Amino acid sequence: MVVELKSGVYWVGYVDWNIKQFHGHEYSTHRGSTYNAYLIVDEKIALVDTVWGPYSQALIDHINEIIDIKKIDYVIANHAETDHSGGLPAVMKHIPNATVVVSEKGRESIPGHYHEDWNFKVVKTGDSISLGKNSLVFVSAQMLHWPDSMFTYLTGKNILMPNDAFGQHFASSSRFNDEVDTVEVYQEAIKYYANILTPFSDLVIRKIDEFKKLNIPVDIIAPSHGIIWRKDPLQIVSQYYEWAQGKNDGSAVIIYDTMWKGTEKMAQAMAKGLEKEGVKYKLFNVAISDRNDVLTEIFKTKGILIGSPTMNNGLLPTIMPILEDLKGLKFKNKVGAAFGTYGWSGENVKLIEEILEKAKIKILQEGIKFKWQPTKEELEKCVEFGRSFAQKMKAV
Ligand code: FEO
Repeated sequence: MVVELKSGVYWVGYVDWNIKQFHGHEYSTHRGSTYNAYLIVDEKIALVDTVWGPYSQALIDHINEIIDIKKIDYVIANHAETDHSGGLPAVMKHIPNATVVVSEKGRESIPGHYHEDWNFKVVKTGDSISLGKNSLVFVSAQMLHWPDSMFTYLTGKNILMPNDAFGQHFASSSRFNDEVDTVEVYQEAIKYYANILTPFSDLVIRKIDEFKKLNIPVDIIAPSHGIIWRKDPLQIVSQYYEWAQGKNDGSAVIIYDTMWKGTEKMAQAMAKGLEKEGVKYKLFNVAISDRNDVLTEIFKTKGILIGSPTMNNGLLPTIMPILEDLKGLKFKNKVGAAFGTYGWSGENVKLIEEILEKAKIKILQEGIKFKWQPTKEELEKCVEFGRSFAQKMKAV
């Protein structure tokens, strides 16, 4: 259903209750998602972003509920990723002469996706387009999270449309943050930040500082996924600022994989050690856990203990995806250590420590490994390992 944000500004997107795997199968979306597009009716008419291609007709139907789609003058493509630009070809069939507004990098990436020679207008930070009473002002958000990413601000209505930033994969029958369970929304917002935006945290800080200096009024933040921030809209900006600084809750996670429970016994013994030192923790067998959820938990915490047996001179293949993510996401202010069992060659601890170094996670103590199944005495050593890790964690 079309929803009016402020007079003349409408949500015309699509609620996708059924998407459970995003980016192909890279990102789990347990709560579905939305593709938010906004229609602004002034003397000129603008559409800000579209929807994922399969839902183009729903977007077009929503637009036609308000105005004849042929009346659109401008289509703003804030970002080329297809969950937002996928509806462009279908929309542009109705308005082939409309202006497609893109960032400098969008001028490459939008045609790179659709290979159409639309009437493009390139804008950079500070450029504006008058719609009549109000204007659209553009701010480049390069690498937040693609080179083409751009924010659009509507003067007069004080609405910021920052595309992916401040969004969440959250399907709902409601459109606004004051109408939903905010605990659920924040869980999805932090997951989104942890899994997608973390590598760009320094840019997030710079962009927020830049925005604060502009001192522009913001009544509504309308991202391209999930709910729209209408009540106390800047709360999500403050929250991003905190996340970008890499603040953590002082707890730990133990992530491991195990073949015949030896490494798992070590993990559980280490958990006892953390507990004895009063450090809160969560324990994940990554082979049976949702990768994105575990990454979100790692994002929140300070300490990471990683365990794997040695297999074929390497680590268990099932633990590798999350370790690759740790290298790429480069979480800030984390400390870690390695452990695991082995049968003969025993490269596991060394390999995990190499990954920790590449992920810029400070190794707090030398890892431990035990041959075959750990003995009672060896498990006691694991408890002590957990204790000393906790003590060192609290000290840094
Ligand atoms: Fe929601 Fe970067 O696309």
